[in-house]
Parts: sequence; C-alpha cells; structure tokens
Amino acid sequence: MPNSILEPRLAGKVALVTGAARGIGREIALRLAREGAAVGVLDLKAELAEDTVDTIVQAGGRARAFAGNVAERQSLVDAVAALEADYGRFDILVNNAIWVRYGPLESITQEALDRMLATGFSSIVWGMQAAAPAMVRAGGGSIINIASVAGYLAMPGALVYCGVKAGVMGLTRSASAELGPQGIRVNAIAPGSVPTPGVAVNVDETKMQGRIERTPLRRLGRVQDIAGAAAFLASADADFVTGEVLSVDGGITHAFS
Ligand SMILES: NC(=O)c1ccc[n+]([C@@H]2O[C@H](COP(=O)([O-])OP(=O)(O)OC[C@H]3O[C@@H](n4cnc5c(N)ncnc54)[C@H](O)[C@@H]3O)[C@@H](O)[C@H]2O)c1
Repeated sequence: MPNSILEPRLAGKVALVTGAARGIGREIALRLAREGAAVGVLDLKAELAEDTVDTIVQAGGRARAFAGNVAERQSLVDAVAALEADYGRFDILVNNAIWVRYGPLESITQEALDRMLATGFSSIVWGMQAAAPAMVRAGGGSIINIASVAGYLAMPGALVYCGVKAGVMGLTRSASAELGPQGIRVNAIAPGSVPTPGVAVNVDETKMQGRIERTPLRRLGRVQDIAGAAAFLASADADFVTGEVLSVDGGITHAFS
C-alpha cells in the first residue's frame, strides 16, 4: 500500500518488460516507470532499448536495459536475476515481445513457424518460470502476458499468430491457477489494432481502415491504451484479478455487424 495519497501506485516495485525497445512494450515500460517502478527493458534491439531507458532516466525514473532474446530461456533468467540483485526484489513481468510474419497457410516456412512459436509462446513459459521464484521471494507478484484479439478472432492469412495468441490465453489461465496460491497473479491483455512498427510490416493501410470501421469506438488503439491496462493489472488496484484476459480493443471482439 502507498504511504501517502501522492505516492505513485507502483512505488518500490521492480518490473521487467520484454520487447520494450519500441511499440507497445516501450510505452508499457515508460508507464510502469511513471507509476514508480524500476524497469528492466529487454529487447533484441540493444540501442533502441537503451533509448527507452534514457527516456525513463531523463524523466527521473529508474531503468536498466538488457540486450536479450526472449526465445532463449537464459536471457530471461539473467534479466530477472540482475534486476533482483540491483533493486533488491522483483515484482512485475510483462511478456510482450514477439516476432510476427503473417501469410497464408501454403506460405508458412519452418523457420517462420519456429520463430513465432519461440518468441510468442515459449518465451512466455520461460519468462514465467524465471519470474515466479523471485516473485515468491518478494511476497507475490503480477505477470502480464500480451495476447491479442487475434486469439479470439478468425483471421485469414494469420493462422499461426492467431494460434500463438490463443495459446497465450491458455497459458495465462493455467498459470493463474498454479501460481495463485503463491500470491502471483497472472493476467493477459488482448489489444485490438495499434499502429506500431511491428504492425506496419504485416497489415496495410486499407486493412487498418477496415478495422476502424468495424470497431465500435471507431478508432485504432493507442500504445497508451495498452500501457494503462498493464499498469492497472500490475498494481494493487487489480489485487483480486487473476486468470483474466482484458480486451483493450475499442469493442471489436464483441462487435457483429
Ligand atoms: N500492435 C498491435 O496492433 C497489436 C495488437 C494485438 C497484440 N499486439 C501484441 O503486442 C505486443 C507488442 O506488439 P508491437 O506491435 O508493439 O510490436 P513491435 O514489433 O513494434 O515491437 C516488438 C518488440 O519486440 C522485440 N522483439 C522481437 N523479437 C524479440 C526477441 N526474440 N527477443 C527480444 N525482443 C524481441 C522487437 O525488437 C521489438 O522491439 C506483441 O505481443 C503483439 O503481438 C500488438
């Protein structure tokens, strides 16, 4: 509990955000830092990860960059250990990174399939495995897995991505049941379309326009929308929330027209 009404709600907490060099992960890192957490910024793109850290530090926050690959279990183990050593505890993990290539069934290569599974699915297992013991030492914690509306919807040309994200939801629910007795909450966020460098590679302008028209709130998501949801799930405001998939999608998942 904060000691004062002016104290930010993540004061004293320590977090790791994967894929935080750009896009949604970067904004989540900035937001958790603004709410008072010390933040580990892990990404393959070391220079951009340093840039996220510089932005946080220049604004008076605490952060540290990790050049790492979430497909490799050791990267996550090392980052959690370093954060716990530096800041004395570890409380919050945001599994956000993934490498994605859309394409119809016949175009899927072994390399692309393996890479999507390793970065988007296995990485969540490795992250939770690395984080859980440290969270137990801290007296509990919050794990937030970034899923997608794609985990619910049928998207032609994106079947591996849809399957990976449905899998993330399954991992989240099972992990919440397994880790709950140790004081660890596990939730997921299912964002709708948010313009980021990653999306620009896979979805063209016309498709994005069509998504706006099918979204009840008639706009795309903003990185800040997802970061706000992550800060909520990380905080004591969500102390009795676990095993949940929070859609942050302007209503598109439930819309039918
Ligand atoms: N942007 C959207 O519309 C949208 C919608 C739904 C869900 N999501 C999810 O949100 C998350 C972030 O998406 P984004 O659009 O910001 O993506 P992005 O591609 O813009 O950013 C992803 C970041 O992850 C990093 N990364 C990729 N592979 C990595 C690896 N092996 N190890 C470490 N870092 C790695 C990249 O370098 C990059 O900095 C993803 O899980 C994505 O599936 C995004």
